[in-house]
This record gives sequence, structure tokens and C-alpha cells, in this order.
Amino acid sequence: MKQKSFVMLKPDAVLRRLAGRIINKFEERGLKIIAAKMLIIQRDLAEQHYGEHSEKPFFKDLVDYITSGPVLALVIEGEECVSLIRKMVGSTNPKESEPGTIRGDYAIDTGRNVIHASDSLKSAKREISLFFSDPEICSYILPDEELIYEEP
Ligand code: RTP
Ligand code: MG
Repeated sequence: MKQKSFVMLKPDAVLRRLAGRIINKFEERGLKIIAAKMLIIQRDLAEQHYGEHSEKPFFKDLVDYITSGPVLALVIEGEECVSLIRKMVGSTNPKESEPGTIRGDYAIDTGRNVIHASDSLKSAKREISLFFSDPEICSYILPDEELIYEEP
């Protein structure tokens, strides 16, 4: 089933000029980018986005990190893409991420783990609506979808 996931290249990814390489991995996999926006996240939006962690000891550091510079927010579409993208991203702690995953290739510390991806379909829907309005999400067909999917 086609799903939409929310992905965000965190400020360290943007400042380290890794955005192109990371987007490339999603494109090469056959996934479709249907929305993209660069922004510096305001504190209240960061607190809402990571609301599930509000009682955790790392919450302030997390909000400081995510608001420290520009992020690139994306909506990505593909079959079963929520779990597929989480696998591509790797473990929360990059020291435990497999090489070949985004965190396993580009990060070392949990507090500088370069990318966010929705952890469930429910989170994806919530996060997409926090960052994008409906007209900002593009519906289009790629000409090679039958090369990616048996039944596009
Ligand atoms: P994300 O939400 O950013 O995709 O990361 P995740 O699902 O892999 O991990 P999550 O548990 O949702 O944590 C959100 C972000 O908080 C920071 N964190 N720091 N110091 C710590 O123990 C700790 N734990 C989590 C990381 O930046 C993590 O990505
Ligand atoms: Mg998370």
C-alpha cells in the first residue's frame, strides 16, 4: 500500500552539506518526493513535533538542536514507505546503525543523528500536517513507476 512519510534533514545535515546525498538515497531507492521545504523551526513547532518526548531528560537539548539552524522538511511517498524509510535511516543511536544506513554512514552521536523519519503511519499523518498544508503536497506520476513496482 502506498504511504506518505514525513522526513526531516536536521540542521547538522544541512550545515554539513549532506542534503543532496541523503535525498539521493531516497530517489535511488525508487521513492517519490512529493513535498519539500527549508525552514528554521520555531521553538513551539519543535516542541509540538517532538511532544512525545516532552518529559524526557534530553527534551531541551533536542529542541535546541532542531531549532539551531535550517532543516529540510520532506514528504516522501512509496509502498510501505514508513517502515522502509526507518530502515534506511538506521538506529536512533548512530553508533548502533548499520553501515549503509543514513545514520550509519553520516553520524556518530545520538544528539547529532542528521535525520528524522516518522515512526508509524499515525505519526506520519500528524507530522505532515504540522509542517505542510494540503496544496504544498504534490500529486504526480513518475514515468518509470512500472520499473519500480510490479503493480504501480
Ligand atoms: P527521530 O524522531 O528524530 O526520527 O529519532 P528516533 O525516532 O530514532 O528517536 P526518538 O526516540 O524519537 O528520539 C528523537 C530524537 O531525540 C534525540 N534523542 N536523544 N540523549 C538521548 O538519549 C536521546 N534520545 C533521543 C535524538 O536526536 C533522536 O533522534
Ligand atoms: Mg522519533
